[in-house]
Amino acid sequence: MTNTVGQSTTARANANIAFIKYWGNIDDALRLPANPSISMNLDGLFTQTTVTWREDLAADQLTLNGQSAEAQALRRVSTHLDALRQRLAISGYAAVESANNFPTGAGIASSAAAFAALTIAAAAAAGLTLSERELTTLARLGSGSASRSVPSGFVEWYSGATHEQSFAESIASPDHWDIVDVVAIVSHAHKTTGSSEGHQSANSSDYQTARVAGASDRLVVCKRALLERDFATFAEIVEHDSNMMHAVMMTSRPPLFYWQPATLGVMEHVRQWRADGLRVCYTLDAGPNVHCICVRGDMEQVREGLKQLSDVQDVLVANPGGPAQII
Ligand code: PMV
Repeated sequence: MTNTVGQSTTARANANIAFIKYWGNIDDALRLPANPSISMNLDGLFTQTTVTWREDLAADQLTLNGQSAEAQALRRVSTHLDALRQRLAISGYAAVESANNFPTGAGIASSAAAFAALTIAAAAAAGLTLSERELTTLARLGSGSASRSVPSGFVEWYSGATHEQSFAESIASPDHWDIVDVVAIVSHAHKTTGSSEGHQSANSSDYQTARVAGASDRLVVCKRALLERDFATFAEIVEHDSNMMHAVMMTSRPPLFYWQPATLGVMEHVRQWRADGLRVCYTLDAGPNVHCICVRGDMEQVREGLKQLSDVQDVLVANPGGPAQII
C-alpha cells in the first residue's frame, strides 16, 4: 500500500468543449466510448480540487464550492476514489475540497474538469508520479470527457477496446489556432438528466448506430480542418456532429430534449451570421447553452450579437486552454 498520510495536493483542470462528440459507451463501467472524440480545453473555466488522504477518516469527505456536498455527488466521487484506491493501491479515505468557477450542470462540462482535477490531485497526494496517458485513462473512469481535460489545448480521445487503450492526447497546443468559445448562457438551471444516464440510453435510439458508424470519418474531417485552420470545413462538421448527437438524444427512449426554445433561436442566429460572413459555428453538449466557436477576429461581433438577444442571460468567453496541472 502507498503510504500517503496527511499530504494535501491541489490540482486545477479546465473544462473542455467537444467538436466531435462522445455519446454512448461500449462498456459503461469502464466508460469505454462508442466512438472517438475531439475537444478544446476552455482556458479559465476550471475546477480546482484539493485532496488529502487520511488514515483517520471512516469515509471520504467532499466539499463543493465551500459547502458539504449532497449524497449523490459524494457517492460519485467516492466511487471514483474506490477505482483509484484499487488501481493505484492507495490506502485510507480522502478529504476532497473542490470548487468550480463556472455554472455547474448546464452544458459546460463541469464533470470533465472535476474528474480531471480530482484524479490528478488524488494521485499526486498519494505520492505517485504517473504518465499523462495513464492519468487520462484514470480520469476517464470518473467521467469520459474528463480524459480530454488532462492534456493541453486541442485533444483527441481514442475509443480503444480496453482501459489502457482508451486514452487522450494533445493533437495541437492552445496557440495552434486562435479560435474562441463564446458561450451563450440561456439557462443556469441544473440539467435534469445527467450524461452518465444519457450514455446508457444512447442505444435505445435507432439513430445511434448511424451516428457511431460515421463518427470516425467526421473526426478525420474535423481533425484535418483543425490542423489546417480551415474554418469553413470545421464549422460544417462541428455543427453536423452536434446535430447528430442531439438527434440521438431526442430519439432515445425516453427522449432527452436538452434544447430550449432560446437554444434554437441562438443556433439560427449563428447560422445566419455565418451566411453573412462571420466565422462562427455552434455546438451543444448535454444542456441548453450554446457554444459559439469563432475566429478571434470575429469574436466581438459574435459577443455583441449574442448580448442583444433577449433570451441570452449571460455570455462567457474562453480561449483554448492548457493542460490540467498541480498548483
Ligand atoms: O463525460 P460525460 O459523461 O459528462 O459526457 C459528456 C458528453 C458530452 O458533453 C455531451 C459530449 C462530449 O463529448 O463532451
